[in-house]
Amino acid sequence: MSAEPRAVGAAVMGRESPSKLSVRGIAKRYGAADALLPMDLDVWPGEFLTVLGPSGSGKTTLLQLVAGLIEPSAGSLFIDGEDRTHTPVHQRGIGVVFQNYALFPHLTVRENVLFPLQMRRVPAPELKRRAAEALGMVGLGALEDRFPRELSGGQQQRVALARCLVYQPALILMDEPLGALDRKLREAMQMEIKRLHRETGATIIFVTHDQEEALALSDRILLMNHGRIEQIGTPQHIYEHPASLFAADFIGLSNVIQGRIGAGGVLETPDGALPLPPEAPRLSSGATAALVVRPEHVSLRPATPECAALRGRIVESVYAGSEFRLLVTLGSGTTIVARRSPGQAPLAIGDEVVLDWDAAQGRLLPA
Ligand SMILES: Nc1ncnc2c1ncn2[C@@H]1O[C@H](COP(=O)(O)OP(=O)(O)O)[C@@H](O)[C@H]1O
Ligand SMILES: [Mg+2]
Repeated sequence: MSAEPRAVGAAVMGRESPSKLSVRGIAKRYGAADALLPMDLDVWPGEFLTVLGPSGSGKTTLLQLVAGLIEPSAGSLFIDGEDRTHTPVHQRGIGVVFQNYALFPHLTVRENVLFPLQMRRVPAPELKRRAAEALGMVGLGALEDRFPRELSGGQQQRVALARCLVYQPALILMDEPLGALDRKLREAMQMEIKRLHRETGATIIFVTHDQEEALALSDRILLMNHGRIEQIGTPQHIYEHPASLFAADFIGLSNVIQGRIGAGGVLETPDGALPLPPEAPRLSSGATAALVVRPEHVSLRPATPECAALRGRIVESVYAGSEFRLLVTLGSGTTIVARRSPGQAPLAIGDEVVLDWDAAQGRLLPA
């Protein structure tokens, strides 16, 4: 490819500013196996991009390539428009935080944080100031004389964050940094990472397999599957317009109803004909397709004998604080999840119900 990388990056998104990171055709093979298929990607200055996908989908491989920890089998990458494909790790100006935060056990919190600065031969007065600043940012100023074994898991993770922030990298890579923490702590740390992102203005690429975490944190989500990009977009766009059944299934809870395109803009299913969304892609009559409907769009009401609409029976009801989650089985055996607020008329297990949704809220995908 002969095009100049900045121009390529800017043109792709119609943006003025050059990308922080441009990846062009980067790929990684191990023997005969593709860990990452050739990938193009632009990450914008100050963006929070989350790489989301199941285990083995290539997330860590992508991060290792960007960090310079492994050599690509093909392709190139550019940081601030400069070709960095073969630049050693420590010359890329990238901060890295991994799940196993690997603090030095024999060094105190402060010494752990100082370490990257000492490696970079930062003069002593500045060294002290920057370490204090980084520890202050993660709220660990008071614990700087402790050793890692004297800290909780969450505090250790904060030290790892401070150690990454201390040399003020403009690009930060995080590989499942919160994976080892329990839920409460993880949510608190998510807020902290968001705040640090705002305060530092750094570009962050954050890897997780947790879709809730991805939805909560990201400007954009890069959804990966089998070493390639399944979909990339804002959390809201992917949630509302999943490009595939994989995306619909991986992000948020989805109801998937399989059928065939029938005459007159309907999906023929064993449970009846369902209206297609007005903006549905044109599929030829007889083609198999799936209709995806999010639980919050499904409304339920008690069935009446003469009613011809989609019907089912409630088989499970789970109280989840702000809502009930109801499981409804259709005649064909297909199961649908619906949400219902505690304020609505109660429905019980065994009740026959009619299911309904605004056709425009459904997404039609080729099956
Ligand atoms: N050093 C390696 N040698 C051989 N195969 C590897 C190596 N690292 C990763 N892989 C393979 O590449 C694929 C992607 O791995 P990885 O990037 O670690 O996935 P993820 O981080 O999404 O779980 C997996 O199939 C994995 O087994
Ligand atoms: Mg991984």
